[in-house]
Amino acid sequence: MSINVKNLTINFSDGFIPVKNINFRINSKEIFCLIGESGSGKTLTGMGIMGMIDEIGGQIEGSVEFYGKNILKISEKEICKIRGNQIAMVFQDALAALNPLYKINFQLKEVLELHTNLDRISIKKRIKKMISLVKLDGCENVLEKYPHELSGGERQRVVIAMSLLCNPKLIIADEPTTALDVTVQSEILKLFLEIRDKLETSILFITHDLGVVAEIGDRVAVMYDGEILEEKKVFEFFDNPETQYSKKLLSSRI
Ligand SMILES: Nc1ncnc2c1ncn2[C@@H]1O[C@H](COP(=O)(O)OP(=O)(O)OP(=O)(O)O)[C@@H](O)[C@H]1O
Ligand SMILES: [Mg+2]
Repeated sequence: MSINVKNLTINFSDGFIPVKNINFRINSKEIFCLIGESGSGKTLTGMGIMGMIDEIGGQIEGSVEFYGKNILKISEKEICKIRGNQIAMVFQDALAALNPLYKINFQLKEVLELHTNLDRISIKKRIKKMISLVKLDGCENVLEKYPHELSGGERQRVVIAMSLLCNPKLIIADEPTTALDVTVQSEILKLFLEIRDKLETSILFITHDLGVVAEIGDRVAVMYDGEILEEKKVFEFFDNPETQYSKKLLSSRI
């Protein structure tokens, strides 16, 4: 798997261009971090890859090659097959990603019923496997609980399990640990590393936290005002930042 983002530009009809001609590639089993301050265009880039810019009234140009196919140019039906299946997304706010009215089991089952042809027994097995992978098997009766009956960390694990159900090749994780306390954050980061190793998934990890980049990233791209200023292997970035902005970012790190 590789995903190749070429000359990606996102604009709105009022002339606002939040993402300006960016290029990057995410290789197989790689954790690629996109870092930048609030409003730099990280989330819109993730949404662009998922083909969701039309929905919010924007326009997208350039290409996103996934398995050699430009997924910005395929039909709505085809992109729906990829979204949630081969490319999954995990957001910052796990509570908003879950339906408060349904138990966890129902919500996980629904994803598999919608996206796969698995029978009831296989669905049950798959859910059990993913719950164990995200280390929620210690949480008693987790599947019979409603989202509000779980802690923030547990909810984020449920959302991660949900994103893994259909065996995605790429996970776009948009600040998935920002709302969590430091200890839980560190556990969730470890979980992403494990997922990459065990399931061989590539991850686009969006964050504004250099500590997170240092902990899990293979490569990092620094985004500022809709542009990518520099892109490097993580250790090279910390050793030898190129741009003034990156140097400032690193020196202001506490
Ligand atoms: N639906 C939208 N319509 C118009 N402008 C938008 C929309 N969504 C985001 N923007 C604007 O585009 C810019 C980039 O937004 P984006 O959400 O990608 O930033 P971000 O880097 O993810 O920031 P944060 O770290 O705060 O999440 C911002 O100026 C934002 O106000
Ligand atoms: Mg964002």
